[in-house]
Amino acid sequence: MQKRYLEGKTVLITAGGTREHIDPIRFIGNPSSGKMGYALAQSALNRRANVILVSGPTQLKPPKKIRFISITSAIDMKKAVDSCYEQSDIVICAAAVADYRPENFISNKIKKSEEKLTIQLVKNPDILLELGKKKGCKILVGFAAETKDLLANAKAKLIEKNLDMIVANDVTKEGAGFESDTNIVKIITRDGEVKSLPLLSKRRVATKIFDKIVKAINGLRR
Ligand code: C5P
Repeated sequence: MQKRYLEGKTVLITAGGTREHIDPIRFIGNPSSGKMGYALAQSALNRRANVILVSGPTQLKPPKKIRFISITSAIDMKKAVDSCYEQSDIVICAAAVADYRPENFISNKIKKSEEKLTIQLVKNPDILLELGKKKGCKILVGFAAETKDLLANAKAKLIEKNLDMIVANDVTKEGAGFESDTNIVKIITRDGEVKSLPLLSKRRVATKIFDKIVKAINGLRR
């Protein structure tokens, strides 16, 4: 009989967007709602896994009975993820991490005295890329939110980041955006299989992703 549950497994999930502060009251951010990541956390919990959710600021209430780590910036998220990575069996990075952060944090509110203001940005670490380098036997799942060349970009990321699976969505499509309750995704696995799902609630998408994960754990192919 195939196992549907993830008893004894620890699932680490990143969710939401990061905020990269310029000064105490302003930041560079993105409209990620965290809904996909939180749906994944609930789905992992339903499958009886131990769940760790590392989340940027959202309007959502985290599910009960999980370990919840609240972070703000990409650097904070990396620290939190790194501290939980060893103990995790399955890692799903659903967060929209800012690729750049301001080089300098201005400790007092910037005044609007100048006509032009230049903010130098520096690259943030790619959390998932770094995890992929020390993957071991863990199952690593990434997301690819794209605006063009969905499949090609997602497949390249799967290889570059050494993932088992990538969930790709075209964010320009209606019902597939950052803040939506629904998503239209393609699940691409390491063997090149592409599963295109119709418009579904993020809860249903999360269930489909875990169906794939348990199949992978059970050593089956759909
Ligand atoms: O390269 P791109 O940002 O499109 O990759 C998306 C995937 O990588 C997502 O799973 C996202 O959570 C993860 N990521 C990350 N750290 C970054 C950028 C993206 O973990 N700095």
